[in-house]
Amino acid sequence: MMEQDQLGRETRIIAVGNQKGGVAKTTNTVHLATALGEMGRRCLIWDLDMNHGATLHFGIPSEGFLGTFEVLIGEEQPEDVIITNDDEDVELPEHVHILAARRNLEKIDQALVAKNKFLITQDVLLKPLQSLRGQYDYIFLDTAPNATTPTIAAYKAAELFILSAMPDPFAIAGLNDALADIQDAQRHGNPHIRLLGVILSGVDKRTRLANTLNEYVEQIFAPDGRRSAKFKTTISRSTAVPQAQKLGKTLFQTHPTHAVTEQYRVLAREVETRLLGLTGNQTNLGLYDTKAVR
Ligand SMILES: Nc1ncnc2c1ncn2[C@@H]1O[C@H](COP(=O)(O)OP(=O)(O)OP(=O)(O)O)[C@@H](O)[C@H]1O
Ligand SMILES: [Mg+2]
Repeated sequence: MMEQDQLGRETRIIAVGNQKGGVAKTTNTVHLATALGEMGRRCLIWDLDMNHGATLHFGIPSEGFLGTFEVLIGEEQPEDVIITNDDEDVELPEHVHILAARRNLEKIDQALVAKNKFLITQDVLLKPLQSLRGQYDYIFLDTAPNATTPTIAAYKAAELFILSAMPDPFAIAGLNDALADIQDAQRHGNPHIRLLGVILSGVDKRTRLANTLNEYVEQIFAPDGRRSAKFKTTISRSTAVPQAQKLGKTLFQTHPTHAVTEQYRVLAREVETRLLGLTGNQTNLGLYDTKAVR
């Protein structure tokens, strides 16, 4: 599964998701990639959401660049539309590239059918991702909060899945739905997808909601006495996060030494430690088999 580049490095394709809206999927994708970039890892963020939160988070103008839509309908090669710091008026974090989305992504289904009635739309990411293998250490797929074609395609194409959750009264129900989605992906076309972990964000340790969610994820996700799927590093709630987002910047630019920025640095190291378990024998490495959860 994992192909290596000439230096023997693997490209990890990680979908970040939860079909519940507003649970920090995009915030986590953007900041985790930025933290890994700071460590010298080559990261690509692929924005698969018509609301293009990741694109906007990097201050990239909404309609400024071709991107996901054009790649999915086969009009552009991913390499030709990926945005880097060489592009004008773009200020991306070091080692982070982005494949941007625009509003036209809402019309992707009609566009795909118009091109080829027999196309299996859930497979549209497979070929473009294959062509990007070896060029990055990480490819993060930032998914939409609903079962759009690009989101389903991400479940089909990813090897690893990071679940995002934020404390709110429906967080646990949302998490269970999200796990069911990963299991469905495993059963129907992507048997290799594994849950890498759950990131709890927007956590205010003083609140009961945060504690309830924390305990739930700790326990339910640790079947057979294995360690919890929850990343030990949780991301605190802070107004610095929406502030940075509104400016179209990452916290690494606006608040380089903020507690949350530091948490993302620690989280990035935790992700890499967890991934180390993947090399060699890939079948039974303490990664979380979602089958064990239900
Ligand atoms: N640690 C945090 N502290 C405070 N606010 C946060 C934190 N993380 C994310 N947020 C805020 O929560 C909101 C939702 O975050 P984000 O857009 O990343 O979620 P999402 O899951 O990608 O949403 P969508 O489902 O719409 O794509 C944003 O306004 C973001 O600024
Ligand atoms: Mg988002």
